[in-house]
Amino acid sequence: MGAPIINLICFVFLLSSISSSSSLQSSQYWSLLRLQQLLGHPSLLTTWNNHTDLCSSIPSGSLTVVCYENSITQLEIIGNQSCPPLPKSFSIHSFFTTLTRLPELKVLTLSALGLWGSLPDKIWRLSNLERLDLSFNYLSGSIPPEISYLNNLQSLILDRNIFTGSVPERFGPFPLLAVLSLRRNFLNGSLPESITTLDNLRVLNLSGNNFSGELPDLTLLSNIQVLDLEDNKFGPQFPVLQRKINTIVLRKNQFTGSLPSQLGTYYLLRRLDVSSNRFVSPFPASLLNLPSIRYLDISGNRFTGMLFQNMSCCDGLEFVDLSSNLLTGNLPSCLSVKKSESMNIRFDMNCLSNLKDGTQHSLPFCQTEALAVRIFPHAKKKSSPGRVILVTSMVGGGVFLGVLLVSILMFFSIKVSNKRKLVKKHPRTLILHASNGYSSSKLLADMRYIPQTMKLGTFGIPPYRLFSLEEIEASTNNFESSAFIGEDSDGHHMYRGKLKDGSCIAIRCLKLKKTQTCHNFTHYIESIAKLRHHNLVSSLGYCFEYCLEDSTISRLFLISEFVPNCTLRSKISGNPEQKIPWAQRISSAIGVAKAIQFLHSGIIPGLFANNLNSTNVLIDQNSVAKIDSCNLPLFSSDREFKVCDSNTKGLNNDSKRDELKDKIDIYDFGIILLELITGNNIDSQRQVEKMKNRLQESVADDGSLRKKSVVDQTIARACSNESLKTVMEICIGCLSNEPVDRPSIEDLLWNLQFAAQVEVDSWRGSDSQSSSNSISQLTPEI
Ligand SMILES: *[C@@H]1O[C@H](CO)[C@@H](O)[C@H](O)[C@H]1NC(C)=O
Ligand SMILES: *[C@@H]1O[C@H](CO)[C@@H](O)[C@H](O)[C@H]1NC(C)=O
Ligand SMILES: *[C@@H]1O[C@H](CO)[C@@H](O)[C@H](O)[C@H]1NC(C)=O
Ligand SMILES: *[C@@H]1O[C@H](CO)[C@@H](O)[C@H](O)[C@H]1NC(C)=O
Ligand SMILES: *[C@@H]1O[C@H](CO)[C@@H](O)[C@H](O)[C@H]1NC(C)=O
Ligand SMILES: *[C@@H]1O[C@H](CO)[C@@H](O)[C@H](O)[C@H]1NC(C)=O
Repeated sequence: MGAPIINLICFVFLLSSISSSSSLQSSQYWSLLRLQQLLGHPSLLTTWNNHTDLCSSIPSGSLTVVCYENSITQLEIIGNQSCPPLPKSFSIHSFFTTLTRLPELKVLTLSALGLWGSLPDKIWRLSNLERLDLSFNYLSGSIPPEISYLNNLQSLILDRNIFTGSVPERFGPFPLLAVLSLRRNFLNGSLPESITTLDNLRVLNLSGNNFSGELPDLTLLSNIQVLDLEDNKFGPQFPVLQRKINTIVLRKNQFTGSLPSQLGTYYLLRRLDVSSNRFVSPFPASLLNLPSIRYLDISGNRFTGMLFQNMSCCDGLEFVDLSSNLLTGNLPSCLSVKKSESMNIRFDMNCLSNLKDGTQHSLPFCQTEALAVRIFPHAKKKSSPGRVILVTSMVGGGVFLGVLLVSILMFFSIKVSNKRKLVKKHPRTLILHASNGYSSSKLLADMRYIPQTMKLGTFGIPPYRLFSLEEIEASTNNFESSAFIGEDSDGHHMYRGKLKDGSCIAIRCLKLKKTQTCHNFTHYIESIAKLRHHNLVSSLGYCFEYCLEDSTISRLFLISEFVPNCTLRSKISGNPEQKIPWAQRISSAIGVAKAIQFLHSGIIPGLFANNLNSTNVLIDQNSVAKIDSCNLPLFSSDREFKVCDSNTKGLNNDSKRDELKDKIDIYDFGIILLELITGNNIDSQRQVEKMKNRLQESVADDGSLRKKSVVDQTIARACSNESLKTVMEICIGCLSNEPVDRPSIEDLLWNLQFAAQVEVDSWRGSDSQSSSNSISQLTPEI
């Protein structure tokens, strides 16, 4: 049986050896000739005419053909970089169709040959490709997603073409890809998440494109050594990387904020170039002393901080550019003494004081500018290019709190009323401690850090933080009209935004007048920052813009959770289908009570008389009741005065008054309970009295409370008598005319939780079908 096979093999061998090219399959040879023809017979390929054995030709710098077992496995043709595009008659489709007849190709380099047209998706048929280099051509259109089928690729180089569009959303998996170079094209959009699956990637060069947006989590690229993103629009956050990286080039992008502290642990980092961005932070001088650093360029940012003569530098440093920043102090002597001829140090346009060569600004320049951050076209004169606004401040590694504007206080018009909302509020007169603008020293003195606890996310609320204006703009599509939700009660524009992570935010935009400046912004931001609780529409952060000219803040954005506008009231007395059952009403009441407890004693100073009613309690998508914080009288009449007056310490210490204030909220809470029980809207004092009396009569009367007409019929069918009774009694207590007779918030919570427990138990006891439903409705708060 063996002999015929051997004969067959001999025959095939014979056949191939008598073909035109001694050891290459003839079809492959003809494909090469066809390629030559399609490329317009470039002089580079004239040797192919001689019917020589191409497989044994000696590779030159511009032409390499390698065969393995009679098939071409490597084809490299490198033309002249100033090669014009091939003539109109050239067809990229025919060209690639011909190429796919060389299916054994592992290495394909077709560089600077004038190829034009869009890269055909049939490229995937070259499934053995390990290296593909099509650089310096005129390939256009988008990168075909089919390229992802080339899963043996180790190197993909498409530099210097005219590719547009974005990197295919599903890019890869390329389990072996080590080099991805797409430099100098016209690619845009953000990098897809799938890029992080390239875990063999060593080199990523995307320089000279139009990419934008935040980078995905690059720590997943556990082997990356070289990251070059120069000349794009990436930002604003410095990318997170694994620490064995060798080269980071972020030059000419839109990165802001600070450099991450982990940079100090990148012990293999040789080259760091963050120049021409918008970084604003103290310069981490330890970078000069990284063990492997050779090249450090931070020029053209707003790095601040003081350098000392005695700072140390890594011995191997060859290039350092600190120019055009806001550095003060003295140039370290390790940089002023040249260790070798090749060492290149630049530092002009800072405020360094030991240099008398006229290349430095005066110290006040850096000090003032250090407070300013980013340059924006001024909103006031619409799109007038001459004006600039500086936005947000970050100094000292923490969040820097800027100037306080008295005017802001105005925005929280005072809703303190010893009576209810029924009493109309009057507009406030404002007490201005008007110092126009601010002095930078004053600002520095007022500098505060937001307490660490505020920065931590609690109850699933993301950390309180400073937002960048870009982020706010991006989230609202540049304050597009569809993002506009309306005006709040004080006339401030409200926008709805969507962050990159998909979460929704509400943005309140406060326009500030120059005349309304106060020097103490800290308290304000700090007070807002405290409003974070599971049962409050919590604040998430802030962002502000200010004018460069006179350093006044022009706009403040307050960012809070976005809760769809679904009020507790609409869930009680609105559309019958929306009405919530008893169990959920109790859990909403518990939520509101917890929020009241938090406002009274969870923050210092406590917030009292919070103007609560069922229309400013919102029910979120998880059925959690949240008090809408924008209605809180954050700055009551006394407080407003005090916030601006740093000499007056503390609030009104009249404890009796505080107690009374405390009971105002309890009374208001009683009305909410009344609505929960009766299912009616209650908007007047007269109604309150009437309903309270009916409630009292019902409780006094024995028998099933469920059957009483005062109880909302929607809930009456499915609630336990005992829990109903408990809540009715609490309600009556809350509505006592004498504040001292009203229960404390702790009592209230205890009783409500008791009522909830009774309700759960009663459902457990019965075999009602809706029991599990009912219990689950309670769970948000229990
Ligand atoms: C190919 O043939 C041309 C003449 O037809 C000759 O001048 C040239 O030297 C040949 N090249 C090789 C590599 O044999
Ligand atoms: C490339 O082409 C230009 C102009 O056509 C010519 O000056 C240059 O010498 C060529 N370079 C090479 C390496 O052939
Ligand atoms: C990318 O560029 C194309 C045109 O080349 C454009 O249609 C598209 O909107 C751009 N995408 C982004 C995200 O800028
Ligand atoms: C990335 O590409 C740019 C532009 O072609 C080149 O100058 C740069 O050296 C490359 N980056 C690295 C780290 O090799
Ligand atoms: C980059 O994108 C912006 C719009 O996002 C566009 O105006 C600009 O022309 C693009 N630049 C290039 C080189 O494609
Ligand atoms: C460097 O000098 C500054 C003051 O000029 C001093 O505070 C600091 O301790 C010194 N550091 C070292 C490491 O000597």
